[in-house]
Amino acid sequence: MQITPGLGVAIMMNNYFHDVATALLAASAFTLHAIVRVQAVRNDAASTRFFIATYDMMAKFFRFALWWIILGGIPRTIFFTSFEWNHFADKLQIPALMVKHALMFVLVVWGIIAWRRLKRKVDTLRESVQSTIPAL
Ligand code: HEM
Repeated sequence: MQITPGLGVAIMMNNYFHDVATALLAASAFTLHAIVRVQAVRNDAASTRFFIATYDMMAKFFRFALWWIILGGIPRTIFFTSFEWNHFADKLQIPALMVKHALMFVLVVWGIIAWRRLKRKVDTLRESVQSTIPAL
């Protein structure tokens, strides 16, 4: 397929945002982890409410970033061989791509497990404070 300069810019931006969305997902996981720790240490009503309100916002943000990654991954896959594949390195890239995908797989599975565990904790805390937090 002929890649015009305009299409090239669009693909590169799309690929860049695929990476940025991944970084945002990872960064927000660390942030959420810190907020969970603060709630666990303080364990009072104020910090629990703060944690639940933050969690609710982060959950929306997480879903948004995840959909962005998945949808942006489709054009990235379509244009991968004509745009990102390094023809000089050729098949030498394959082991590196396999390692990268194995790592991604482990991180995604770990992320899903951590997310489910966190959701259970939030449900318990929500019940304990009988939250009446208005939607932010
Ligand atoms: C939560 C799921 C995903 C995460 C965390 C993720 C993350 C990433 C990251 C960080 C890269 C850059 C690797 C590099 O430049 O070295 C990448 C590359 C890529 N992603 Fe995703 N991605 C995900 C899902 C998807 C999906 C669903 C698709 C396809 C529909 C996709 C297609 C691609 C392609 C074609 C590349 C370029 C090949 C490569 O470098 O491995 N990704 N992904």
